[in-house]
Amino acid sequence: MDLTTTYAGLKLKNPLMPGASPLVDNTDAARRIEDAGAAAVVMHSLFAEQIEGNEIAFARHVERWQDNFAEATSFFPAQDDYSLPPNEYVECIGKLKAALHIPVIASLNGTQLGSWHTFAQQIEQAGADALELNTYFLATRREVTGTEIEQRIVEITRAVRSSVKIPVLVKLSPYYSALPNLAGALEQERADGIVLFNRFFQPEIDVDTLDVTPRLDLSTHEDLRLRLRALAVLRDQVKFSLACSGGVHTWADVVKAILAGADAVQVVATLLSRGPERIGDLLTGLRDWMEEHEYTSIAEMRGSLSQLKCPDPEAYERGNYLRTLQLWKE
Ligand SMILES: Cc1cc2nc3c(=O)[nH]c(=O)nc-3n(C[C@H](O)[C@H](O)[C@H](O)COP(=O)(O)O)c2cc1C
Repeated sequence: MDLTTTYAGLKLKNPLMPGASPLVDNTDAARRIEDAGAAAVVMHSLFAEQIEGNEIAFARHVERWQDNFAEATSFFPAQDDYSLPPNEYVECIGKLKAALHIPVIASLNGTQLGSWHTFAQQIEQAGADALELNTYFLATRREVTGTEIEQRIVEITRAVRSSVKIPVLVKLSPYYSALPNLAGALEQERADGIVLFNRFFQPEIDVDTLDVTPRLDLSTHEDLRLRLRALAVLRDQVKFSLACSGGVHTWADVVKAILAGADAVQVVATLLSRGPERIGDLLTGLRDWMEEHEYTSIAEMRGSLSQLKCPDPEAYERGNYLRTLQLWKE
């Protein structure tokens, strides 16, 4: 059985990898993930605010992760491990490259063009095999238009693309009004793929203290369906790579993501709660399913339930909405 896949030009032994998170900050943990069967690793993001020295803005970002670690096991890395300053981030790439045999994907995180994107070159020189670009941005100002935000992502991608030779992947947020158009624009800018999606961590209102507090809830299965639809719709319209990130907890979720069109499948929450060996369980389940359903390769499986290939393309469109509402009435 052939589990290999090509992701952003990288030949991978299978489609599974830990998504961007502090899971691989420490080389021992990264080795455990590699030993469990991961085909690549994605490092946590280095934030534009860190590179440009805006520590206050950076603190605002990282505090999202704090105070909410109760759900994760002791495997969860310490917060201090996560906030690697830029020089240590680069060192960490070197350490991971020395410790692992699988590709190391770094991650840069910023929302506006600035000096930070040139840091991509240092990441490349440190040996990263690819770079994920996270453009997590929340529109909160009335005068900022959707077009401006999308244009910014395209410009950042263009700037990073032109400064490095390694593959560049753009990690997108889910709620753009015309995702296929944005994906097409990124493909035109020679991005090597997109990662679907960021998870927004919504703040919580504390009714006792009247505070608005950051809150990190790990994903559930429910997060996956938003990704499946996007993968299925995009698979027939773009040639570059698609990765699924968000809501993958079981081998069946991995199967679904690939059938919808994913070239790679990233997991974070399930590794945080069950440990690195979970990757091995997911791979075993994937293999068993393929055998039972007589698929001999990931290539054969990938996108076989994309919008155009599935028996009912309307299932991914408005027709599904209408039918779902009618079912409710019956
Ligand atoms: C503790 C934690 C840290 C994360 N750090 C990053 C990060 O630095 N950069 C990034 O792009 N995504 C980050 N993410 C988001 C994950 O990469 C992933 O997109 C999200 O958790 C959804 O995948 P999951 O359902 O498998 O958890 C983080 C998620 C968690 C839970």
